[in-house]
Amino acid sequence: MSAEPTPAPTTPTTPAEPRTGIWLIGARGSVATTTVTGAAAVAAGLHPATGMVTETPAFAEAGLPPLPALVFGGHDTTACPLPKRAEQLAAAGVLPHGLPTALAAELTAADAEIRPGGPGPGDNRSDEELIAAFAADLTGFRTRHALARVIVVNVASTEPAPRAGDTRLPASSLYAAAALAAGCPYVNFTPSTGLHHPALAERAAASGLPYAGRDGKTGQTLLRSVLAPMFHQRALAVRAWSGSNLLGGGDGAALADPAAAAAKNAGKERVLADTLGAAPEGEVHIDDVPAMGDFKTAWDHIAFDGFLGTRMILQTIWQGVDSSLAAPLVLDLARILARAHETGLTGPRPELGFFFKDPDGGSSSLAEQYAALLTFAGRLGETR
Ligand SMILES: NC(=O)c1ccc[n+]([C@@H]2O[C@H](COP(=O)([O-])OP(=O)(O)OC[C@H]3O[C@@H](n4cnc5c(N)ncnc54)[C@H](O)[C@@H]3O)[C@@H](O)[C@H]2O)c1
Repeated sequence: MSAEPTPAPTTPTTPAEPRTGIWLIGARGSVATTTVTGAAAVAAGLHPATGMVTETPAFAEAGLPPLPALVFGGHDTTACPLPKRAEQLAAAGVLPHGLPTALAAELTAADAEIRPGGPGPGDNRSDEELIAAFAADLTGFRTRHALARVIVVNVASTEPAPRAGDTRLPASSLYAAAALAAGCPYVNFTPSTGLHHPALAERAAASGLPYAGRDGKTGQTLLRSVLAPMFHQRALAVRAWSGSNLLGGGDGAALADPAAAAAKNAGKERVLADTLGAAPEGEVHIDDVPAMGDFKTAWDHIAFDGFLGTRMILQTIWQGVDSSLAAPLVLDLARILARAHETGLTGPRPELGFFFKDPDGGSSSLAEQYAALLTFAGRLGETR
């Protein structure tokens, strides 16, 4: 008599982990390409999560979407495929050599989800038609991949600040309005207008969505938000604070336009005025040096008075690779906002000021912003 076959052990069937979409506006740029490559590299265990605040123990219980559960797509106005863009960044020393080849499948999959951005020259669609088209791209992405939610992150080229009397919405605001229309939380990692357009205020308030911005704080302003509170708390009088930035890449080229640079510099100077009580003398300059590519040098010169008026100087030189500094923050922001959306939080999130040059309220001091972020991490975990 043959033995009864041993029944296969029954494993409880758990529903597949719901996945989260990250939709990058400017999806073929340096920051976006580094974000997609970096997420795949860390998820595959090829690299540690250096620079990702959400991978530190403080966020272990916050209920954030895990990195392997992220799906990428986006809009861009350029056609260069993502794997090729990643190869270019590796050749420039921004990404490790060999990584784009190792992650070719992930990069190709993300590239297949990039849709043409706009508005391009000769595009006759109205603002509302463009918003509807972009929103349809977002809902299509969410449906195709059965995503729990899609977080829209603007990492497109910096736009000039809108001029008084402009009748059209800037592109960044069209995308932001599309995010609202499609029910997607929104992050503005750039100084461009995005959701901060007066014409969108009512839609943002009525959307019931969380959002955060503006302009990622990755280098010179990060340092300023640490040093300015130090001068203030030590009762040292800052007489002048001047800064110069040398950078190349697409960002350097975009910021060669004085109107775009003005939008960027306003955020850098605001940190000082907020912390010190008044803006000190001195300006910030941005020079486009194409030969530097994504490598940036930021020099700050701070003239201050000590006891009995003694005059002193602090100089700092920051040499960073912009996309490597920015990409982990893009992932942090998208994961935190995804969880905020899941827990039902709405409106501007000042708790994320740690990541921005020009945040939606809260302190300008990095230490206080970090404390607020940790409190927020605890709050996100409470509803698990
Ligand atoms: N890297 C950093 O440390 C850092 C920090 C803060 C903010 N930012 C901001 O992030 C943004 C991206 O920086 P980057 O270095 O990746 O620049 P990049 O020039 O490499 O990439 C920008 C991308 O945006 C695309 N784009 C332009 N107009 C568009 C439109 N209307 N619709 C869709 N896509 C459009 C471009 O084709 C390009 O692929 C910039 O605005 C920059 O100021 C970067």
